[in-house]
Amino acid sequence: MGPMSTHSEVTPTPTQLRDVAVEIAREAGELVRTRRAELVDDTSVAGLQATTTTKSSAVDPVTVVDQASEAFIVDQINRTRPGDGIIGEEGANKESTTGVEWIVDPIDGTVNFLYGIPGYAVSIGVAVDGGLVAGAVLNVATGELYYAAEGEGAFRDHEGTTTRLQTNTLNDTTEAMVATGFGYTSSRRKAQAQILTHVLPQVRDIRRMGAAALDFCHLAAGRIDAYYEHGLHPWDFAAGAVIAREAGAHVQVPGLRASGDDGEVVITSVQGISAAFDTLLDEAGAKKNVPM
Ligand code: IPD
Ligand code: CA
Repeated sequence: MGPMSTHSEVTPTPTQLRDVAVEIAREAGELVRTRRAELVDDTSVAGLQATTTTKSSAVDPVTVVDQASEAFIVDQINRTRPGDGIIGEEGANKESTTGVEWIVDPIDGTVNFLYGIPGYAVSIGVAVDGGLVAGAVLNVATGELYYAAEGEGAFRDHEGTTTRLQTNTLNDTTEAMVATGFGYTSSRRKAQAQILTHVLPQVRDIRRMGAAALDFCHLAAGRIDAYYEHGLHPWDFAAGAVIAREAGAHVQVPGLRASGDDGEVVITSVQGISAAFDTLLDEAGAKKNVPM
């Protein structure tokens, strides 16, 4: 039990919680894969588009598969850990009586999912007494499974091989491969584009891959050196933040009660450039909130 915990039940270890997250992410990933296959054929995603509605703006999609995936994950958590809290992108919101909370993105990268770009993921983070301790992120299209528990390192399972993840070694921001992402409203995007005009000329290059959870995993795996974005919600970053941190990254994320609408920035990078990258973002105006 954590020092702040006032609950009678014994709190599972981060490793135990991670293993539950991994198991549920695998099963949800299978659901996402099969449901997508049922709705698309070789030439058209029309069947999938027909199930799509929008949320915060006309370009913020949600499909029946997002909803089915979240319903499945919530059900599994309720069965396995009935007293735990749940925060989910598609509306799950349950208070915890145990100190344990599950932060769920049933499909992160929904636009990629819609278009068939192979970068969309099931993301499940776990917090104990408000602190993130475990996470699992499954790239459904590639089968890459990322997971981490506090103090235990970060790993990727792919095609039968398990790899321990470690961020790149880098000391110079001008050589940094930087990922970022954009929100769903025009006003936020305009501000994000302005910030990018300051960042892009000063780094190796920019990637906008379209799934925040995977951006953290790419950093953990050495595929990028830094990532920043304004306005992420807790379900976008919860699992990925643990994975990047356990792979040695510097990670700065808002609290789990923060609303993405306020537009706080998430910053993560390899340790060697963390101070310089922070300064670069500050000069670009990126340390200020970019509201919706
Ligand atoms: C989005 C993705 C995207 C990021 C957006 C998120 P969603 O999540 O993570 O990469 O740029 O800010 O909202 O809507 O695909 O679950
Ligand atoms: Ca998301």
